Amino acid sequence: MGVVALVPAAGRGERLGYGMPKALVPVDGVPLLVRAVRGLFDSGRVRHVVIAAPPSDVDIVSTVTAPLAPADGAVHVVAGGAERSDSVRLALTYALREIPDTSIVLVHDAARAFTPPAVVGAVVDAVAAGHAAVIPVLPVADTVKQVDADGVVVATPDRAALRVVQTPQGFDAAVLLRAHEVAHHAGLGATDDAGLVERLGVPVVTVPGHPDAMKITTKFDLAVAEALLVGTRG
Ligand code: CTP
Ligand code: MG
Repeated sequence: MGVVALVPAAGRGERLGYGMPKALVPVDGVPLLVRAVRGLFDSGRVRHVVIAAPPSDVDIVSTVTAPLAPADGAVHVVAGGAERSDSVRLALTYALREIPDTSIVLVHDAARAFTPPAVVGAVVDAVAAGHAAVIPVLPVADTVKQVDADGVVVATPDRAALRVVQTPQGFDAAVLLRAHEVAHHAGLGATDDAGLVERLGVPVVTVPGHPDAMKITTKFDLAVAEALLVGTRG
């Protein structure tokens, strides 16, 4: 059972506004991407990681992440695409072509740098148990409203039935490839790979996520991550 993790890391980090790709932004001296890749390997389930890097940063990303791989694995770096879904598709195509025995694929945002290795393990275990698509989720704390184009409320979904979605998302490799091929031909992008698999009619199951797996999008999120790190140092 070969588990390969794809890490889309080619975004520009515009909302963070740090003046460099978000994946390379350091928290306590360690880039977010390095933390994310380390967490994947620390799960003990992943031997190969394929990073989709900003095209102009492929060399620096390779240098920084190569030492993270275990002796029986490797970090591979490809140039990412214009949209996140392009980056995932490029990394997936590379993995299926170059890494023998790729049967389970995780997709994990570099921006979720503090995801506990136990969450990675739970996702892999659920895919290995026979679920073709697995996502880590959390309950929704706030009430959520659906609004129309004018911002007028049209519905209040039952909060108990809602979940927020994290990564890594885990897939049977062939199912994820089919989902991306269908979406690509339809001209559809997605920030959520499981959403593409849903469109195939394949059931997507959930496992518990973790608050530390928050996505770092804004300066506020980065400040929360820094505070978390200080907290764990005691
Ligand atoms: N990503 C990617 N390729 C893209 C766009 C995004 O690989 N063309 C990656 C990002 O690097 C990130 C993840 O997808 O790890 C989630 O995207 P997001 O949080 O939106 O990051 P950015 O696109 O970098 O941020 P922003 O949208 O604020 O520019
Ligand atoms: Mg983005």
